Parts: sequence; C-alpha cells; structure tokens
Amino acid sequence: MKEVYVGMSADLIHPGHINLLKEAAKLGNITIGLLTDKAIASYKRLPYMKYNQRKEVIENIKGVVKVIPQDTLDYSDNLRLIKPDIVVHGDDWKEGVQRSTRNQVLEALKEWGGELIEVAYTPGISSTELNGAIKEIGTTPNIRLNSLRRLLNAKPLIRVNEVHNGLSGLITENTQVEKNNQIVEFDAMWSSSLTDSTAKGKPDIEAVDMTSRMLSVNDIFDVTTKPMIFDADTGGKLEHFVFTVKSLERLGVSAVVIEDKIGLKKNSLFGNDVAQTQDSIENFQNKIRIGKDAQVTDDFMIISGIKSLFLNSGLNDALKRTEAYIEAGTDGIMIHLPQKDPVEIFEFCKRYSSFERKVALIAVPSIYNQVTVDELYQHGVNIVIYANHLLRAAYPAMISTAQSILTHGRTFETDTNLPSIQKVLELIPETIIKIISGFQSFPC
Ligand code: SPV
Ligand code: MG
Repeated sequence: MKEVYVGMSADLIHPGHINLLKEAAKLGNITIGLLTDKAIASYKRLPYMKYNQRKEVIENIKGVVKVIPQDTLDYSDNLRLIKPDIVVHGDDWKEGVQRSTRNQVLEALKEWGGELIEVAYTPGISSTELNGAIKEIGTTPNIRLNSLRRLLNAKPLIRVNEVHNGLSGLITENTQVEKNNQIVEFDAMWSSSLTDSTAKGKPDIEAVDMTSRMLSVNDIFDVTTKPMIFDADTGGKLEHFVFTVKSLERLGVSAVVIEDKIGLKKNSLFGNDVAQTQDSIENFQNKIRIGKDAQVTDDFMIISGIKSLFLNSGLNDALKRTEAYIEAGTDGIMIHLPQKDPVEIFEFCKRYSSFERKVALIAVPSIYNQVTVDELYQHGVNIVIYANHLLRAAYPAMISTAQSILTHGRTFETDTNLPSIQKVLELIPETIIKIISGFQSFPC
C-alpha cells in the first residue's frame, strides 16, 4: 500500500471532503496532516472546533489510518518527516492564497519522487460558504468567550478594533484586506468607555452605567461573532465589580480591563491636565483577586491597565506594578503611554521580557501611532487595541454633513460625498429579508 498524505482543517466536514478522502483511499493508506489552530489562524479565522474535537471527527472517517498535527500552513516539515508517496489535495489551490503552499509541496515531493494528485473540486459546497452560513447563524456566549484565549494560543498577535454600536461591530467583523497574499482582518472587538460614552453624548467619566454599557454590548453581539475585550474603567466599587465580571461572562465577553486609578474617572488622554490618582498596589491587587474569584469560567480574563507612564510614576513603578498584579492573578497587562515617541513602551517591553512569570501584554498605540503592529509584535506585545478610531472617523463626517445641509439649504452638495442608501443597506446582512421569505414558505 502506498502512503498518502492529506492536509486538512477538518472543521466543517462536508461532501467535498468525503469525496476527496474517497479518492485518496483508492490510492493507499491515508495520513491526515490536521492543521493546528495556529496553522489555520495564520491564514484565516480560527476554526469553530478545537484541535482535539476536529481530530476525533476526522480519525473516525472511513479510509483515515492516522492523524498527525500539521503546525504550519506549509506542508514541507511533515512531508519531509514521513516522505509520502502521494499528496492528495483539491484542485482549487492552484490560484489564490494557497498557490505558494502548493509550490512548496511540489518542491518537497521532488526530493523522493513523490506525486501530487489533485481531485476535482466538488461544486456547490465549500468551507468558505459554510463559514458564511455559520456566521449568519451567529455564535454562543461560551464559544465567543473562550475564543480570545484560543486566539492568544494560536496567533502571534491579536488585532482589536473599537466598537460602539452594531454598525461599528459589523464593520470590525467583516472588514478584510489582502496583504502579501494573506487575508488580514481584526480578531476581536474593544468596547471602549470613551467611544461608548461619546456615542451616547456623555462624557467618559463612568456616567454611562454598566447596564447601559452592557446593552451596547448586546447590540454588538446580536450581529457579530468575534470576541470582545471590555473596558470597565476603574472597575468601580469592589462589590459592584463582582457583578460586572459575572454579567460580562454571562454575555460572552472574553476579558475585562480595569485600570489602576481611583476617584472620579477621567479619560487618561487628559494626562495630568486634570487631577487623577493612581490606586495603591495593594488595593488594586485586591480588586484583581476579587474579580478572579467572581468569575465562573476558566477562560474569562481580567486585564490590568497600568497608568504609571500616564501619571508620571515612571517605568520602575510600572514594572513593579506589573509584577504585583501578575502575582495577584491578572491575566494580562495593558500598558499605556501618552507620548508620540514609543521609546518608553519599548523599554517596558524589553524589561518585561525578562520576567519569569508573564501574561498577555496589551498595547494601545493611540498616541505613538506611527508604530506598526509588526514592530509591537517584535517587542513582545500580544494584543494591539485601536481604541477609538471608528468613532473618530464617523462623527466629524456627520458634523460636516449637518453643516453642509444648513449652508446650502439642500442635500445635493453633501450627497456627492456620501454612499448611496443602497450601499448602506448592503452593510447590513439580509437577515430580516431571509426570515420573512422563510416565513412565507411555511405551509399555512
Ligand atoms: C478607552 O478607549 O476608553 C480607553 C482606552 O480607556 S485608553 O484611553 O487608551 O485608556
Ligand atoms: Mg476607557
């Protein structure tokens, strides 16, 4: 019997996969190179099922003899290890993002005279279509909640974008660009206290209460599937923080950020122009411990926002607090820097890299905005948050539109700069239309 290698994600098994496996089984003993979460996340969104769940499914499918992990999109390492006689793949990878992977397979097979056999693509069904359908159905609080930890394990860097309502959620969910032959998209959402308050016409001083903040989250969750990190400001009173943690978890939020300040909260970007006081290390450790005790799941994360660099307490204080908050059980450190020059943040990253106990490191490059995501990753950052940009893009545009209507006494001038109503409707999935047409098709 010949040795046949098939690389697969095996997340949503459909007739196209079965057809391919049937063809592969005719050629010999199938070894599945099951792509790990890390390999899949390197070129598309995380699979719905975890590696072990996918393994359990695929190893029970007829014709599959063995399943081994494939840790990169590139097959080469596994192929050189087992030197199969044949690699089988669908013929749909000749074009697009997988073309270079195909070339690498051909290169490797040449070394021992192996063969690539490409099975005709099964029309009418594909994982991409199924993914789209699942996205429309939505997700569950539990799947959404633990997907941030899965992403942290699977991806070198998580990109998080600010959302303040359903529409900005949809934009963050669906925006993609193609860069270096790869699809790039946001991994998660940031519920910002600044933009949620501003969208409600209120100052960012914890005047928008938690119930109202959570209604915004609910609106966003109605139309998205990506995980969310929630900005809970100071976390409020200890007794209240317990409820905040439990409520966020129940909604399916993955992480809460609390910052180590006390008193009337003002947005940090005011810096020292308004009096702001940092909490004591002991008090804040206590808040972390109480939050960790309150959470029900293992996956929920409590992230500590350290304001030392904002409030001029210095780098040493920031590092001392990092150590203390990790000791208290925090799952992440969000380090803030109010300067254009990132030197201090890079120095923090360098000194943090020698810490024995490390947790996820989060940067918010609102002011040192010339620094790219790749540079932050190279310095050891795990999560980058773009904290307020969608709101800042939208509201000045609304003001100038309102001014134009008043100035010209008509909308002709402003309409030339605006998308058509049709385009706006296209932003929203057709859920309502589908529900109505489904309803009509029921027998009376
Ligand atoms: C927010 O977006 O509301 C924040 C982020 O708190 S930061 O201003 O960077 O602290
Ligand atoms: Mg905030």
